[in-house]
Amino acid sequence: MISAALPPPRLQLRCSECAAVQTENAASVFCGKCGGLLAFELEREPRFDAARYRDVLARRGSSNAVVDRSGVWRFRELLPAIAPDAIVSLREGDVPLYEARRGAEYAKAQHLRYMHLGMNPTASFKDFGMTVAISHARVRGARLAVCASTGNTSASMAAYAARAGMTAVVLVPDRGISEAKLAQTLDYGARVVAIGGDFDTALDVVRRLDTERFAIVNSVNPLRIEGQKTIAFVFLESSGWRVPDWIVLPGGNLGNSSAIGKGFREAKALGLIDRIPRLAVVQAAGAAPFVRAFETGADLVPVHAETTATAIKIGAPASWRKSLAEVRASNGTVIAVGDDAIADARAVIGIDGIGCEPASAASLAGLRVLIERGVAKSGDEVVLMLTGHMLKDTAYAGAYHAGAAEFANTIAHVANADEAQRHLDALAEETR
Ligand code: F0G
Repeated sequence: MISAALPPPRLQLRCSECAAVQTENAASVFCGKCGGLLAFELEREPRFDAARYRDVLARRGSSNAVVDRSGVWRFRELLPAIAPDAIVSLREGDVPLYEARRGAEYAKAQHLRYMHLGMNPTASFKDFGMTVAISHARVRGARLAVCASTGNTSASMAAYAARAGMTAVVLVPDRGISEAKLAQTLDYGARVVAIGGDFDTALDVVRRLDTERFAIVNSVNPLRIEGQKTIAFVFLESSGWRVPDWIVLPGGNLGNSSAIGKGFREAKALGLIDRIPRLAVVQAAGAAPFVRAFETGADLVPVHAETTATAIKIGAPASWRKSLAEVRASNGTVIAVGDDAIADARAVIGIDGIGCEPASAASLAGLRVLIERGVAKSGDEVVLMLTGHMLKDTAYAGAYHAGAAEFANTIAHVANADEAQRHLDALAEETR
């Protein structure tokens, strides 16, 4: 515990667009005044003993309490307050950092690491946010949790709602979402509604729901953003509070880049670090309305999204203003990469022995472009956020390896034991 003499920093719920202060217990996720997205804002110049907090965190590392093991709730002083026994946790968030050897060669980077957010209970970064959103929804007595999803939010919500004894209702596009994600969601007992349309169609329906009857847990919910901001704190804690030059991550609905940017900004405001990394948000070229908004400085113009990285097949990202503010605050950038580049980058991450789903690999494909263009330097310290696990989309991987792409790995078919023996002998020769 932080001592009573050092109260946790205050967070105030405000509209991120018109700045109107919201009442804390409001069920709504949108501003009562202008309809904008809400955000928990850290007080200006918080009094905070960063050194002491680091010690507190270090001690929690040897505790077995669920709230101390969770990479989200370990930072509970920095989150909207909740009673510890009201927390719905699956031990999310304590994810690893890995050296990216092959990835580094591929992008011509010298200091590259992966932060594998797919190493979470439901195998994507969504668990960071969902534990917070569902815990608070249960506290206020919500019975129905709802989201629109390209598959990962739905799986995460379904798991946490099941743990909380709530009913989960998901609205997914009726085509193009991965079988594995859908199977996960069904397994966790959610009510699945497949809509004729895409993610944007589904989110439109969700945004119009009565928030008294439905707890909306898409990343338009500011509690999701609070949970996901702890990605920055988990990263910093596990790298000895050393700040990299770049954080590179995929952008879809743009909640995660908003959250991670906020996390680093708050870590600096609290005195835990003295500068923030540059954020590079990477979109799929067929779903890149944010790139245009970033480049022109004009309002985001929605597009019809098309990409095989189905997790980020989003044409009207809800959190673009928040994300843009974080990208600008970090002197960051926004770029797009093609589906083929994403496919190759994903396979390269695979041969590092790590593996991720297609959308996650937009990060490596994006870094390669940033280094080629000289925006990022080869010697920069870079961290790629791998947002989802490889097993989230095995059909995609299977199709890649069955094709003729650069990193495709083909199956050798042998007819019988003798042929198998000859083949293995030849392999042994080859690797001598
Ligand atoms: N990577 C993966 C694996 C995702 O599932 C998503 C979003 C993103 C990146 C993009 O994150 O939306 O915060 O910019 N998936 C959502 C879903 C839309 O429904 O699972 P974002």
